[in-house]
Amino acid sequence: MKIMSIETSCDETSVAIVEDGRKIITNRIYSQIDIHQKYGGVVPEIASRNHVIKLPYIIDEALEESGLSLGDIDAIGVANGPGLVGALLIGLSTAKAMAYSLDIPLIGVHHIEGHIAANFLQYPELEPPFLTLVVSGGHSHLVLVKDYQTFEVLGKTRDDAAGEAFDKVSRVLGLGYPGGPAIDEASKKGNASAIDFPRAFLDKDRFDFSFSGLKSSVLNYLNRKKMKDEVINVNDVAASFQMAVVEVLVAKTIACAKSINMKTICIAGGVSSNSLLREKMTEAAATEGLALYFPAPILCTDNAAMIGSMAYYNYINGGASDLSLNAIPGLKIGTRI
Ligand code: KG4
Ligand code: ZN
Repeated sequence: MKIMSIETSCDETSVAIVEDGRKIITNRIYSQIDIHQKYGGVVPEIASRNHVIKLPYIIDEALEESGLSLGDIDAIGVANGPGLVGALLIGLSTAKAMAYSLDIPLIGVHHIEGHIAANFLQYPELEPPFLTLVVSGGHSHLVLVKDYQTFEVLGKTRDDAAGEAFDKVSRVLGLGYPGGPAIDEASKKGNASAIDFPRAFLDKDRFDFSFSGLKSSVLNYLNRKKMKDEVINVNDVAASFQMAVVEVLVAKTIACAKSINMKTICIAGGVSSNSLLREKMTEAAATEGLALYFPAPILCTDNAAMIGSMAYYNYINGGASDLSLNAIPGLKIGTRI
């Protein structure tokens, strides 16, 4: 089954064709980062407008690259939430128009479940159950994937998402948007033990996260330095901040896996491309004898192939979505509509 999938929930306009949920035929990604960079973050209205302009071309590119025609496509998958409502609506309206005119099924996909499915594309042998740490710009969730359609959230952030913390700290350090890759790079030149930023482990037996205290602590540190007219070593601040985030993410993921006796863990979402997180999670999983999976960086950040994978499992387990499917900015994980 060849599914064409569309992802427009934030600032990437992406179209993929995925076969049977596991094989990427093509995965075209147009990133609007250059356009939003000068504003220091994503401007929703500008994102929507650029999806309108770009999406038809990206669909043509995907067909051209695959050598397929619209007649070869068996269904259309689309991320219909969570995300920016205007941006989601562009992908969803296009998907509906295509499904209706081609008379093929429309399949709605939860964006975060899509991030989880990125690991299915990377590892054909991977099957649920497993525990996933999903860390993106809007989410920091520990999700127990019981089967392809059953998800249990075992922990989540009480305030900022991990990616949001990276983006905000990057901004105050003058490293720009998106913050994750910039901090990742700067950290390689810095000393991660230079500054002892707080680690919010919260309740030891719970698996929730909190990153707002860490963010305030970085701000206070920078303000104190500025007031005393002292030199700020940006690379050291970046590296120390990154280590504080990564230590908490790794410790909570391992503790959560142990508490439910789960031997397989995955990481997913934009922040899972972070080099320190990949390194530290690999070390910890090896120490604990856990199998660890993480996608190639291009499948960690927003892309349509992950939506195509999840669309396949939604379809074979629950059939098509109705053409009245709506974009839902706050769509809860595990919701079927
Ligand atoms: O999953 P994603 O592409 O979009 C959302 O669904 O939010 O994640 C984007 C987030 C941004 O906050 C970005 O700064 C972060 O992922 N990110 C990273 C890295 N690459 C992207 N964070 C840390 N290290 C990275 N290398
Ligand atoms: Zn995402």
